[in-house]
Amino acid sequence: MLRVVFLGPPGVGKGTQAARLAAERHLVHLSTGDLLRAAVAAATPLGREADGYMRAGRLVPDDLVQRILAERLAAPEAGNGFVLDGYPRNPAQAARLEAMTPLDAVLLLELPDAVLIERLSGRRVCPTCHAVYHITDRPPRIAGRCDRDGTELVQRPDDRPEAIATRLAVYTEQTAPLRDHYGARGLLRAIPADGSPDQVAARIRASLPG
Ligand code: AP5
Repeated sequence: MLRVVFLGPPGVGKGTQAARLAAERHLVHLSTGDLLRAAVAAATPLGREADGYMRAGRLVPDDLVQRILAERLAAPEAGNGFVLDGYPRNPAQAARLEAMTPLDAVLLLELPDAVLIERLSGRRVCPTCHAVYHITDRPPRIAGRCDRDGTELVQRPDDRPEAIATRLAVYTEQTAPLRDHYGARGLLRAIPADGSPDQVAARIRASLPG
């Protein structure tokens, strides 16, 4: 049983590392960004409401995110442990999470802004299977096409320069204070997120109980 939160700025590699850790340890991977993007793609009422906030790079209102997360966290699959990716993102969400479940560790991935901007502007995603690529660091075998299903890769609407700037500012104002929140509870593990995905994964492994 392992209950982990990935914290860190946009583009630091939370999704990449959360998916790896979940697969390695047989945990449920819960990404609020992925859940919200699925709701947007399906044009559900919640997705229609979330879309404008996401395109602009702002946080979706807490109540909407809570609605989408709470039932997944309460599902039996999450009973063996989970990796939360992108939640919580402000002190109010951290308080709600504390009321729902205890945590074993909060992994804070860290990188300078210049590297974050490079990772975000080069990211391309598969709209069919949601695989994530990078035009130089993790290119697909055939340029512009998903390795798994051949779908044409796209850029996320919030990976445009204006939205990236807003996301970085929102992180500094609203999410970065969670460092002290979890530090005070003895849960925080700060992980340098430079180097290859394998190198970052090894640091994460070393920071967690076996
Ligand atoms: P979300 O999808 O959570 O976006 P984010 O936090 O901004 O994070 P990203 O997905 O952009 O980056 P990541 O850290 O996962 O990096 P990745 O692994 O992809 O949220 C999107 C939006 O949804 C928010 O802006 C908000 O509107 C809304 N939202 C979500 N949760 C919410 C909440 N709780 N409350 C309110 N609103 C919420 O990697 C990035 C790139 O770098 C990729 O191309 C990857 O291939 C590459 N890469 C990864 N690792 C490495 C490495 N080691 N070396 C080189 N390249 C690497």
